[in-house]
Amino acid sequence: MATAASTSAAAVLASRLFRRSPRLLRRLSLSCAPPAALSARPSSSRCPALLGRPPPGHRARMGHTAAATAAAPALGLTKPNAVEPPQITFAAKDIEFSDWKGDILAVAVTEKDLSKDSDSKFENAVLKKLDGQLGGLLLEAAAEEDFTGKAGQSVVLRLPGQGFKRVGLIGLGQNAPSTAAASRGLGESVALVAKAAQASSAAIVLASPSGIQEEFKLTAAAAIASGTVLGLYEDSRYKAESKKVLLKQVDLIGLGSGPEVDQKLKYANDLSSGVIFGRELVNSPANVLTPAVLAEEASKIASTYSDVFTATILDVEKCKELKMGSYLAVAAASANLPHFIHLCYKPTDGNVKRKLAIVGKGLTFDSGGYNIKTGPGCSIELMKFDMGGSAAVFGAAKALGQIKPPGVEVHFIVAACENMISGTGMRPGDIVTASNGKTIEVNNTDAEGRLTLADALVYACNQGVDKIIDLATLTGACIVALGPSIAGIFTPSDELAKEITAASEVSGEKFWRLPLEESYWESMKSGVADMVNTGGRQGGSITAALFLKQFVDEKVQWMHIDMAGPVWNDKKRAATGFGVSTLVEWVLKNSSS
Ligand code: BES
Ligand code: MN
Ligand code: ZN
Repeated sequence: MATAASTSAAAVLASRLFRRSPRLLRRLSLSCAPPAALSARPSSSRCPALLGRPPPGHRARMGHTAAATAAAPALGLTKPNAVEPPQITFAAKDIEFSDWKGDILAVAVTEKDLSKDSDSKFENAVLKKLDGQLGGLLLEAAAEEDFTGKAGQSVVLRLPGQGFKRVGLIGLGQNAPSTAAASRGLGESVALVAKAAQASSAAIVLASPSGIQEEFKLTAAAAIASGTVLGLYEDSRYKAESKKVLLKQVDLIGLGSGPEVDQKLKYANDLSSGVIFGRELVNSPANVLTPAVLAEEASKIASTYSDVFTATILDVEKCKELKMGSYLAVAAASANLPHFIHLCYKPTDGNVKRKLAIVGKGLTFDSGGYNIKTGPGCSIELMKFDMGGSAAVFGAAKALGQIKPPGVEVHFIVAACENMISGTGMRPGDIVTASNGKTIEVNNTDAEGRLTLADALVYACNQGVDKIIDLATLTGACIVALGPSIAGIFTPSDELAKEITAASEVSGEKFWRLPLEESYWESMKSGVADMVNTGGRQGGSITAALFLKQFVDEKVQWMHIDMAGPVWNDKKRAATGFGVSTLVEWVLKNSSS
């Protein structure tokens, strides 16, 4: 419990943290004036358009505490190129595949679909018809290219004199997709062949459409569509030569047609734009994506979808007033000022049945602080991705701004800052005081994410919400436990665990519940403060989650998601956009549509 003494100690500490630095104070007072270099440019380029796309209807409704966040030109003078995200029209059609005209007809086949009859012809009706139309070319190609229908295999043939210029066989493995993840995979494979063929139109047809269950068809259509968009997308904003997506039109054949599936396909496009936005935020390096620029990007979402969003950005002064000593201590070493970001979604009709908050860790860079990340495997050069939680939050916000679900209010909250090293920074051993009055002995400055989330969670609880989910690249221990592609979930609420599990079945993202083992709190006890911020190597993800729990009102349902593994795709050396799809699905499940 917060005592009067500890609360006033918090105020003193928070003010001291920043009084130590005359330079920081000077920056603070300057932070409201746009830097000269930026104000010299035409006003359209005043917001360094991180994504290169000025939003339509650029009118932010900002809270009274909104800081002018125009950021200085990036260190290294890097400016991302303006690259249009893929804009693909999807249509579900009930036509014969042989009547389709366009650049590439992609036929998805299972291993079974390739079996032959006694005349060595395809047994499968679709393949038989197509092979007949092509004079046996398909059989020949499958044999010569050793195409057996295994997942990941594909063959593309260039055809003269047909309605479609190419036919592609896409391997599905043993079965037609029965999960969202497998359907997404099919979309990604189609994207690869369409890209290689430089196609501007494509059709996707399953050799055995009956392999997909009737009630799964809508989910499958949406997942194939988003897989296609996300498979096509490559982030080339930071390359001298940017790549353009050529594919414009994709027809889905055999998955039904009509308004219901059309709506699902629109949803897939809205969702994909959120996932791409999330990826772009994570891919952006820390010299470009500072806390101020992250705040600007969030404000742009609010101004683009101003019918449903308002943005509030809290500067250092305001955070001090709110006694966010834990968050401000992490930010104290950086020349890039912290920005506390709060977007609020309200449905257009104002009718609200449920209130949610989504909180994201927003460390634009994590050097470790005085406990600096050193040694092989510490991945310090990747620590721009330490704002992956906030990217999931704002990616979901962008998608929901387009989908506009009714009956639900959603607060998107990020305490953005940078964990650096300087004379003004927090030291190992410092005691900081969070906005709920609890004191924390910082025994490791590299466990900074939880310190920022502590104040963000207290703020979220003060919004009067029913449920809170936080997402964070919180611990290396979670990668050790679950590997690179599964996120850990921690919650005292079985109901919330069920909700996220259900959402993940639609999104195709992977989660695994880990225990909030109360007895492990023992290692988080301090001799001098209410707690320490790290409890040693053992069960590192669990003790981190137990730490966060200290800052959540018991009346609120809460879940913590540790996404340290899945935020990044090592093979592609790029962000995954993890979290966006599941969050959007979760919000929709909590809406009244
Ligand atoms: N951002 C890191 C967690 C992380 C590490 C994410 C590697 C992805 C890859 C976090 O701030 C951190 O440094 N955590 C420490 C906690 C430790 C000091 C208790 C860790 O995991 O080592
Ligand atoms: Mn850290
Ligand atoms: Zn971190």
